[in-house]
Amino acid sequence: MFTSSDDRAVCEVPRRCTFSESDWHILASFWHPVMFSAEVEDKPVGARLMDVNIVVYRTATGITAARDLCIHRGAALSLGWMDDERENVVCPMHGLHYDHEGRCTKIPSLCDRSPNIPDKMRLTTYQVCERYGLVWVCLKPEAIRPLPEWPLLEEASPDWLTIQMPKGMWQASASRHCENFNDFAHLSWVHVQTFGNRLRPEIPIYKLEKTEAGLNFKTPYTEVERMFFDADDEAKERQVQYSHFFTYPFATDLMLEHHTEEGEYLASHIYDIGSPISANETAIFQLIQTNIPGATAEDYIAYQSKVNEEDAPIVESQHPEELPLNLAAELHIPADRFSVQYRKDLVKVFGLGKSEMTA
Ligand code: FES
Ligand SMILES: [Fe+2]
Repeated sequence: MFTSSDDRAVCEVPRRCTFSESDWHILASFWHPVMFSAEVEDKPVGARLMDVNIVVYRTATGITAARDLCIHRGAALSLGWMDDERENVVCPMHGLHYDHEGRCTKIPSLCDRSPNIPDKMRLTTYQVCERYGLVWVCLKPEAIRPLPEWPLLEEASPDWLTIQMPKGMWQASASRHCENFNDFAHLSWVHVQTFGNRLRPEIPIYKLEKTEAGLNFKTPYTEVERMFFDADDEAKERQVQYSHFFTYPFATDLMLEHHTEEGEYLASHIYDIGSPISANETAIFQLIQTNIPGATAEDYIAYQSKVNEEDAPIVESQHPEELPLNLAAELHIPADRFSVQYRKDLVKVFGLGKSEMTA
């Protein structure tokens, strides 16, 4: 009913946090996407990142991300609006205005129309930037890693069609989602409505390359293409080279290359980022690029949605929902080379999973 009456500094970790405190501080030090840039136009928009409610708004000066909480009486600013000049977000409860730095600039109920509003009357703001058509937020003043480097997404050559997938929402941890996206062995079992080849489940031993950003690896996979053929067409096999460029903690550029029977080189990229809403709920942002002639956004969205629909219920069924960072907690097979290294690095490089490991 009440919060404490003492005036100790307000804890940075959100109330009812679903992460261990130690993990929250570490993951809060990365950039995470919270929405597509196109979602933030002339209204403030709410999002949730790591159990923190965030408001994102766009003034004439630029984009701002702040805690979605008015410092007067705690109403959600995402229910408010922008003032006519597009300089301030306006709280829906008593109309306090906040500028692009989160500074309170107007208290409409004051009789004195030109009050000196103390500079410290500010929203809690966060680092924010826009890249690849996404709004990225870091909840800490310093990010420990830069954003993923995906130059092809920025070059925007006319040979490539770029597609934004509708945002997904999975009842699973971002780390479970990320492992699944980088897992070869599930393709022949989970994706049998789309491209998986049940007759060829073998995964050759692949080499992992450690990079500054994360891990890279590649392997061929014999897909069966079903969706773009009529039901009575014979399913066709095709050799596809899978190359994974993974950036810690939850972002992957998956490049898929193959040659047609006529020898034409075709490639697509699926950029996949899991953004942790909470420890067990993840917003999935995906961007697709392809040089396949005649490819349409409509077809690709339908196809990739079907692929995602095959994955989601399986990943959401995984227990424990949290990724076990104690390697002895799950069985590993040779195809798990990526996930084993991923788990090791989450512990060794970033110090995640401490509380669970010392409990
Ligand atoms: S709660 Fe926002 S102005 Fe009062
Ligand atoms: Fe999958």
